Amino acid sequence: MRIILYLGKGGVGKTTVSASTATAIARSGKRVLIMSTDVAHSLADALGVELSATPVEVENNLFAMEVNVLAEIRENWTELYSYFSSILMNDGANEVVAEELAVVPGMEEMISLRYIWKAAKSGLYDAIVVDAAPTGETMRLLGMPESYGWYSEKIGGWHSKAIGFAAPLLNRFMPKKNIFKLMPEVNDHMKELHGMLQDKSVTTFRVVVNPENMVIKEALRVQTYLNLFGYKLDAVIVNKILPASSSDDYLNSLIALQQKYLKVIDDCFYPIPIFKASQATREVIKTDQLYALSQQMFDGHNPIEVLYADDKTQSIEKIDGKYVLKLHMPNVEITKLNVNIKGDELLVDINNFRKSIVLPNILVGRKTEGADFEGGHLNITFAN
Ligand SMILES: Nc1ncnc2c1ncn2[C@@H]1O[C@H](COP(=O)(O)OP(=O)(O)OP(=O)(O)O)[C@@H](O)[C@H]1O
Ligand SMILES: [Mg+2]
Repeated sequence: MRIILYLGKGGVGKTTVSASTATAIARSGKRVLIMSTDVAHSLADALGVELSATPVEVENNLFAMEVNVLAEIRENWTELYSYFSSILMNDGANEVVAEELAVVPGMEEMISLRYIWKAAKSGLYDAIVVDAAPTGETMRLLGMPESYGWYSEKIGGWHSKAIGFAAPLLNRFMPKKNIFKLMPEVNDHMKELHGMLQDKSVTTFRVVVNPENMVIKEALRVQTYLNLFGYKLDAVIVNKILPASSSDDYLNSLIALQQKYLKVIDDCFYPIPIFKASQATREVIKTDQLYALSQQMFDGHNPIEVLYADDKTQSIEKIDGKYVLKLHMPNVEITKLNVNIKGDELLVDINNFRKSIVLPNILVGRKTEGADFEGGHLNITFAN
């Protein structure tokens, strides 16, 4: 079973590329579920069918669903909120908790993750393709399994306290579904899902970019954070590439700009494989067009496979009390190396290409102390 998650900045083509991937997998004879966890759904538009939280078979082997997180919250969780607030009103000391509850992190993310977990456990699919929300929200989603244990313990703690204070109210305000009983169970599911997401033979992440400056920067941030969470990036999809040349001047200047950023993408994501899709002259919708796009994009590769087998491309380790950033650079013989920091970016010039890495917070503001190249890894040491 495979789980494939597409990430990237808003509007780059995540939904299109996810749907295209799922169609290709289905037409190769495997059962696949494509799931949108984005609140602003467009998967139904891309596939040209109506979707809901129950999977529908769009064509042979291709199942699709849209997780309606907000509806679910409305259905199951608002009662929990009102239950809490009624208890809190009877327990003046807990105003702070009340405020905290109002900003409970990750409720939406947790629901999305539960759907992924359920689909993965159902045994119904060979692959699950997740069309995720733009980067920021998805990064929260991915951090969720780790923070969930903390979160559920906290709510569990409130519960036992609440019983002491407000037992008579319990019957009146207890949610229909007993969320408290569900908490430990959800916690186990989260742990299990976390295991699946970190299992690099099961789950891989793919980042979708366009040949544009800001989009690339965000994709680099995705890469850094995936590495930090221990998740595997196995492909970069460059979408909306213009033709190589044109007779039109205006278009030619756009093409020149794209060419520049295509080179940046090649340099920055090396050695992750890069797949390319051109800008179509009309919207890419419905499975036949999505399938055609997949054929161009994956160019003979099978998208259900793990597309990049090597281990982590970048990692941070603490060696002798100092942070060392390790970059995996196979097949590169370094003749010229220059390392510079610009804001939150590390610029590594190797021979005649430049790799840019968005630094995680712990490394921002530190100076580099040295760099060495050993066994296919470039190790950059940061000062304390
Ligand atoms: N290769 C392409 N050629 C032409 N149009 C494309 C291509 N890829 C995507 N589009 C169009 O670009 C728009 C945005 O694509 P899409 O919805 O897939 O992006 P997204 O990253 O999922 O956006 P959001 O972040 O809003 O979810 C859509 O109208 C889609 O049809
Ligand atoms: Mg989308």
